Amino acid sequence: MYKRLVMYYFTGTGNALTVGRWLAKQARSRGIPFELIPIDRFNKPVAAPAGKDILLGLLYPTHGFSLPWYMLKFMLAFPRERRHLFCLNTFGGTKIGRVHLPGLSGIALILPALLFFLKGFRIRGLVSINLPSNWISLHPGLTSSAVASLAEHCRKKAYRFAEALLQGRRSYRGLISLPFDLAVSPIALGYMLVGRFWLAKMYLANSECNGCGICHKQCPVNAIVMKRNRPFWTFRCESCMRCINICPVKAIQVSHVFTAVSAFCLYGLLFPLILSLALHYNENLASLLVSESQFISILRAWFLTGIMFLAYRMVHGLSRFRPINFLFAGLSLTRLRFWRRYLAPGVSVKDFKIKK
Ligand SMILES: Cc1cc2nc3c(=O)[nH]c(=O)nc-3n(C[C@H](O)[C@H](O)[C@H](O)COP(=O)(O)O)c2cc1C
Ligand code: SF4
Ligand code: SF4
Repeated sequence: MYKRLVMYYFTGTGNALTVGRWLAKQARSRGIPFELIPIDRFNKPVAAPAGKDILLGLLYPTHGFSLPWYMLKFMLAFPRERRHLFCLNTFGGTKIGRVHLPGLSGIALILPALLFFLKGFRIRGLVSINLPSNWISLHPGLTSSAVASLAEHCRKKAYRFAEALLQGRRSYRGLISLPFDLAVSPIALGYMLVGRFWLAKMYLANSECNGCGICHKQCPVNAIVMKRNRPFWTFRCESCMRCINICPVKAIQVSHVFTAVSAFCLYGLLFPLILSLALHYNENLASLLVSESQFISILRAWFLTGIMFLAYRMVHGLSRFRPINFLFAGLSLTRLRFWRRYLAPGVSVKDFKIKK
């Protein structure tokens, strides 16, 4: 039915790329030519190849019950067209004993589906693929046997999805968890507006960093700048987990100490201090500061994030000194031997093709 399959993907650690390869294999077995295009560092809206018999696909991870802002930006820039298209999100699966536990998509599928529907596209498929969770800020990387087992299960699911679409059928399996996805949608909004900026300021390189710049060169969104030969994470960071997993000397750490100390200083010390001053001088201002309206909560969180940014700059600068570096990067959980790193099976740094 389709004469060509064109897929655009964003990936941190290779899960979305791996699924893209599985779908491509299925297309090849039916003699359908395919393209698998990374959106890394895109700088202009995409002009997808013309033709009614082309199936377009968008593949990306789930971040904070939503999709990476970078992917959403790419989708927003997509021209309006009456074309056939599918969306596929990979989410964070895990394996406990013999049981595969799925992650949760939140609005990672529904938001793009709505967006493309409004742009005039025909949505032919929506699916979530349960590849291993790469969120190693929160948990250790999965064992290789758990990774292999999840990947095998997902491969079959991806083949079935590809078969259905390439035969001209529709598949909306990704909507099975819709009630749960809708229930977490407020968290997704919070992540998009605030959470992702906090996460971007959790990374530090420890004293083993040799300034090779690989993390800077391989970041899909160009979020790392090298300052005095050390990586510095800007707010562009999507927390995709690529840099931490590809550093050749495992120097990149998630600074749990910085996160805990800064959260305590901001919410436990600074905010109560500002509040007590406001109570003293202007009660109206005080009641505004503690308002629970969504708008004020977001403004409050942005203000505190701005201060955290200054604190991060300071800690980054001071982390040239060994004791400070040890405190903030050396005491991180990601330093522990069993914490592991994660890249999708069969994926290595050379698979991330960054546009120059
Ligand atoms: C910052 C961050 C947030 C995440 N949020 C979710 C989530 O809300 N739900 C979920 O199921 N998985 C979540 N994950 C796990 C990833 O979606 C999952 O591992 C994905 O397959 C990674 O794909 P990639 O290797 O193509 O980047 C998150 C991972 C990261 C790094
Ligand atoms: S890849 Fe690792 S060693 Fe190289 S600059 Fe980045 S943190 Fe330092
Ligand atoms: S800085 Fe690291 S975690 Fe952030 S977007 Fe770039 S590669 Fe991903």
